[in-house]
Amino acid sequence: MQAGVIGTGHYVPENIVTNKDLEKIVDTNDEWIRTRTGIEERRIAPDDIDTSDLSYKAAVEALKDANIDAKDIDLILVATVTPDKPFPTVSCMLQERLGAHKAAAMDVSAACSGFMYGMITAKQFIDTGAYKYVLIVGAEKLSKITDWEDRNTCVLFGDGAGAAVMGPVADDKGILSFELGADGSGGKYLEQNGDYIGMNGREVFKFAVRQMPESSVNVVEKAGFKKEDVDYLIPHQANIRIMEAARQRLGIEEHKMATSVKKYGNTSAASIAIALSEDAKNGKIKENDLVVLVGFGGGLTWGAVALRWGK
Ligand SMILES: CC(C)(COP(=O)(O)OP(=O)(O)OC[C@H]1O[C@@H](n2cnc3c(N)ncnc32)[C@H](O)[C@@H]1OP(=O)(O)O)[C@@H](O)C(=O)NCCC(=O)NCCS
Repeated sequence: MQAGVIGTGHYVPENIVTNKDLEKIVDTNDEWIRTRTGIEERRIAPDDIDTSDLSYKAAVEALKDANIDAKDIDLILVATVTPDKPFPTVSCMLQERLGAHKAAAMDVSAACSGFMYGMITAKQFIDTGAYKYVLIVGAEKLSKITDWEDRNTCVLFGDGAGAAVMGPVADDKGILSFELGADGSGGKYLEQNGDYIGMNGREVFKFAVRQMPESSVNVVEKAGFKKEDVDYLIPHQANIRIMEAARQRLGIEEHKMATSVKKYGNTSAASIAIALSEDAKNGKIKENDLVVLVGFGGGLTWGAVALRWGK
């Protein structure tokens, strides 16, 4: 059995908050945000939409895309740091709402690397034959833990959800290699302090520009390929400058990298999942492409996969 992605979906709230909008609430400006981060706008969910609602919409689209009935899902993994409440988990809420009654369900907590931790966990169950279909969702309502008076952080984040159905695929397709890692000593650089996200931007930046390129190259080599074989790169959508470090290390052209950070900002565990769904549907990712997904985040954590796209 080889585990691969057989369907994707995503959902972002309709409400767009531009950099100009943020100029009205904190001492910042469009030019600073664009040049330092690449972000132009982000989506912010209204009060009555929580993480489970965002998850549900992305999951429904992914199931439809995979042509799988919710009743056939064996396991639901929701990667999030902004669950509706500590328990029940978002994954259990989703199980009930989808009618996925056979599925086991748990949330995965690895901050912005959560979707990678989820995919790689799903792969183990599918590879062994223990489970056939796993639904993985990355979903965040970061706006509820964002300090809207802190210009260092509030310009960076957004809300949204992305989902993937994973299942067995042909031997030459699916996840070919992976890497996961953590360094708890850097936890202090990115944490929830009381109600809000606290961040040492420079330290996180240093970690990210080192780790993302390194993990990207590692998974390509572990899969037995060379950097130039990579057809498409989906780095965690945190900051265009960090993403560029990974792209340049792989030596691939600009159009071969997902850049939804412009439209959605950093949606933490949702970012890679949203980009995967969007770019699978708009044709940027093609059948048989060698795709690298790579994330980093609070913990500190990181994770990457090399996968051959298709069923
Ligand atoms: C946050 C980040 C964009 C800052 O960019 P930078 O080029 O490193 O900027 P610096 O930290 O050097 O700050 C430069 C100045 O801009 C100021 N600044 C910070 N936020 C600002 C904002 N929104 N608007 C205007 N100025 C701002 C700072 O206060 C600082 O001013 P000072 O020099 O007077 O103290 C960058 O460090 C980063 O992306 N880090 C990683 C963050 C991340 O990805 N977090 C999520 C990980 S999952």
